[in-house]
Amino acid sequence: MKSAVKKIGVLTGGGDCPGLNAVLRAVVKTAILQYGWQVIGIEDGFDGLIFPDRTRPLGLEDVRGILPRGGTILGTTNRANPFAYPVTINDETKLSDLSDQVLSRVRSLGLDVLVVIGGDGTLHIAYDLMAKGLPVLGIPKTIDNDLMHTAVSFGFDTALNTAMEALDRLHTTAESHHRLIVLELMGREAGWIALEAGISGGADVILIPEIPYDLNWIACKLQDRQQSGSRFSLIVIAEGAFPQGGKVQYLPEQDLGGPRRLGGAGEALAHALQSCLKAEVRVTVLGHLQRGGSPSAFDRLLSSRFGAMAVHAIARGESGRMVALRDQQITTVSLAEAIGKQRLVRLESDIITTALSLGICLGLDPKKIQSI
Ligand code: F6P
Repeated sequence: MKSAVKKIGVLTGGGDCPGLNAVLRAVVKTAILQYGWQVIGIEDGFDGLIFPDRTRPLGLEDVRGILPRGGTILGTTNRANPFAYPVTINDETKLSDLSDQVLSRVRSLGLDVLVVIGGDGTLHIAYDLMAKGLPVLGIPKTIDNDLMHTAVSFGFDTALNTAMEALDRLHTTAESHHRLIVLELMGREAGWIALEAGISGGADVILIPEIPYDLNWIACKLQDRQQSGSRFSLIVIAEGAFPQGGKVQYLPEQDLGGPRRLGGAGEALAHALQSCLKAEVRVTVLGHLQRGGSPSAFDRLLSSRFGAMAVHAIARGESGRMVALRDQQITTVSLAEAIGKQRLVRLESDIITTALSLGICLGLDPKKIQSI
């Protein structure tokens, strides 16, 4: 059966990550070359459907040369939820529901389906708009890799490689100066980047939010290392990691709407270690470097597969679904299933077993890890 679709919209929402442009390119090329549809690019996430003049047609010319480019040519924001949008009237800011405005903008643009590229927050908004009658197709994006029902989201592999390279560089300076170096990595409440980069980059200690750490256990492990002749150590800490009985660290900043920003876990750990170990401790926070730059080959391929298969799913008449990688194949899963639950590191996974087998300290006596 020939699809009734003629025009689709596409937006990128939430934090940027490597591979967004590769997805946009694949969506535009597949829609035009395979189906002859029109594609409308929406700027700065859902902001582009709230404010006027923030959309533009995307043709083959517009996506030429963007495959290796980081960021997103459409722009993005992680502070634009149309269901709770900050509106200031007479110096007073209130959260307003602008979702009807978004729906009427979609209608006036003549969009048959909206392709939403984003992480959990953005896909949640897509789901809520779908509940109000908007046909949507989601594409999972996040360096944090914490989305359910897809083995991996694009952006993660590039972030992982950036973090691993940072560890390689820290290795040589830590070794030369006989120092402890703490590297704080992103990931919010999930420890994927820290765990996988830590193993790939040869860290001695890896601390993730899924395993609240015991400072004394870490100090003993680092002392053992010193006594066995190793005069430096590399410690990777996820931004969401915290000590047993302690709290997650957030950046002190003004509330601008959107998620609270994590930060300070590395400094807090360094401070605590400095007072119990006789060693120089330094901290590096890798920050947004993890989100920038050209996507890896894995991410370029995954992004291209996600983008192309999302368009084919729309042509098959699918809506309210998200493309996903499962058993090495691209498939689709219902958005309702995909959102709202974070995919965290499973403590019984072989990656945890691998880390422990290699003698990496995960911040807690291994006997206690399985009982968390
Ligand atoms: O979700 C992606 C992410 O990079 C997190 O790892 C990090 O905590 C957050 O976004 C940072 O957000 P912002 O760009 O608002 O500082």
